[in-house]
Amino acid sequence: FGRHLHVLSQTDSTNSALLKLAQAGAEHGTVVCADHQTAGRGRRGRSWFSRPGDGLCFSLLLRGRRLLSDDVHWPAWVPLASGTAVALGIADTVAITPQLKWPNDLLLGGRKLGGILSESLLTTQSPPFFIVGIGLNVNLPQKDLPEDLHDTATSLIMATGRPVDRARLLSNILERLEEQLEPVLDGEIAQAISAYTGLCATIGRQVSIEFAAAPPLIGLAEAVAPDGALLVQSLSSSSGPRKAETV
Ligand code: BTN
Repeated sequence: FGRHLHVLSQTDSTNSALLKLAQAGAEHGTVVCADHQTAGRGRRGRSWFSRPGDGLCFSLLLRGRRLLSDDVHWPAWVPLASGTAVALGIADTVAITPQLKWPNDLLLGGRKLGGILSESLLTTQSPPFFIVGIGLNVNLPQKDLPEDLHDTATSLIMATGRPVDRARLLSNILERLEEQLEPVLDGEIAQAISAYTGLCATIGRQVSIEFAAAPPLIGLAEAVAPDGALLVQSLSSSSGPRKAETV
């Protein structure tokens, strides 16, 4: 991946910039990386904070080769296996392996190091395409974390005490993304499930599942199902495992 690499000093969001390139016919594996995003987007409608020079913000275009089907859940593994790949690419670079918080937050010492926003076009008529957007806190010192992130976020420089070469980090992560995602795009998810499970800090933990119109449910996260859902054993009633959409 990254044989077509667009490096921008500034854009609104690399996911949005790459979507325009995708609509103009950009190839599978194209990457857009920006030093600064003016409107970086996070999951669930949140914004993504980063400072010029300090972070790694990039998006990867994946063009699927298979039509969607009811029995194979490979599309759900694109964002999850991307989390695995980013954790491994970081480990290749700084010899510290982050953990994953389901579905795909990257954690170090229980704090958020980065996140992934995967956006896709899923239709039954043609193979889907995905834009996988990755944001990591790299050379951001503790003192420069915004107030609201002080107790919850971390960065690679905070964890290692040394500045990290962002180009090398990007190259290692792209290599791992190719290794982890190409089998998934071929519909092979067994390796993705086991690699993800090995890195997932949520499994074995107590979690709270939030519902729009009902009180939260407390449970024990037991595993990730083949369709990517988190399987949660309810601790509030004797019913069997429940599938969490969001935790
Ligand atoms: C999250 O944890 O909520 C996901 C954050 C994803 C941020 C990245 S930065 C590169 C790409 N472009 C965006 O606008 N968002 C993603």
